[in-house]
Amino acid sequence: MESTKTILITGGCGYIGSHTALDLLSKGYNVVSIDNLSRSKQFVPERIKTISGKDFINYRIDLRDLPKLRTVLHNHTDIVGIIHFAAFKSVGESVQKPLIYFDNNINSTINILRIAEEYAIPNFVFSSSCSVYGNTTELPVNENTPLSSPESPYGWTKLIAEQMIASHAKTSNINFIALRYFNPVGAHESGKIGEIPFAEPENLVPNITQTAIGKKGQFVINGSDYPTRDGSCIRDYVHVMDIAEAHTLALEFQMEGKQQNKFEVFNLGSGNGVSVLELIHSFESVSGAPLNYVLGTRREGDVIAIYADNKKAAEQLNWFAKRNLDQMMQSAWAWEQQLQNENL
Ligand SMILES: NC(=O)c1ccc[n+]([C@@H]2O[C@H](COP(=O)([O-])OP(=O)(O)OC[C@H]3O[C@@H](n4cnc5c(N)ncnc54)[C@H](O)[C@@H]3O)[C@@H](O)[C@H]2O)c1
Repeated sequence: MESTKTILITGGCGYIGSHTALDLLSKGYNVVSIDNLSRSKQFVPERIKTISGKDFINYRIDLRDLPKLRTVLHNHTDIVGIIHFAAFKSVGESVQKPLIYFDNNINSTINILRIAEEYAIPNFVFSSSCSVYGNTTELPVNENTPLSSPESPYGWTKLIAEQMIASHAKTSNINFIALRYFNPVGAHESGKIGEIPFAEPENLVPNITQTAIGKKGQFVINGSDYPTRDGSCIRDYVHVMDIAEAHTLALEFQMEGKQQNKFEVFNLGSGNGVSVLELIHSFESVSGAPLNYVLGTRREGDVIAIYADNKKAAEQLNWFAKRNLDQMMQSAWAWEQQLQNENL
């Protein structure tokens, strides 16, 4: 049944926020976004409207500006849930500029929590990351795997934000969920939106597609002598539209009164470990072209293997990662070609 509830998303013009907006809109929700476009492009709101055929408003406001945030809530008195995506996410940049990361990611989170409280918004979903597990050796990683020191200031902002939310949840009437993403990849099936790397991409898949299209000269595999089945590192990749759907399901879980504890966490991973070489082979098979890559040396701080135990999300949210590796790579490749065709 179509819903007419309104959901506020922060960072709704970014990679995961824009895909989630499309999923929510396709299921009948109204979506309002707050995104200062510091790490996204101005064309995204129009795209969301075109693809969905629905209205989509983005307020270009910095989340650290509390008075301006209040104006949004005054304009929209029917918001029933918040999804908080907005953050800076580059691991390397966070190592170079830790204070900027703590300022942006932590202060934004404090403000949106204040807003949720002031306006009594009953449901809140937070974008967390598997980086909160640090360099764990317990595999697969489930939600009870002990958290350890994250490897970067970026990872710390996610862990601190989770801790703030968990503490706050003890005295709040709001339901909070943190979704710990593993490696979101791929793009929307329309081919009209996808990941837009802000600077040099850090994630593997944009690096592969940028090499294939000629933006980068050669792809270097960081380490080929790890004790894994083919010597390269193992990660858990999950299609961005599967990640998007999990947010809608998490909000519905809250709105249907199914959430037992005020603060819950869920892993969002496919449950399968995929090696870098396997990822490349999938890319080569869907793109039909060999990738120009070399085997390089290990990179300091890289975890050998990490993948999710996703049973909790399956059992409680009824969430499953439905799209396979080839679909992830195929959609990522289609998007890279679109970026080039449109000169975006
Ligand atoms: N993409 C991943 O690999 C990944 C993995 C784990 C967790 N996450 C988390 O998921 C969330 C979304 O990630 P993404 O990949 O969509 O990132 P993204 O950079 O594409 O989107 C983030 C959006 O937030 C906006 N933003 C940042 N700071 C803001 C502020 N102060 N005020 C208003 N808007 C602001 C940016 O303009 C951008 O559009 C982030 O919290 C990120 O840490 C991402």
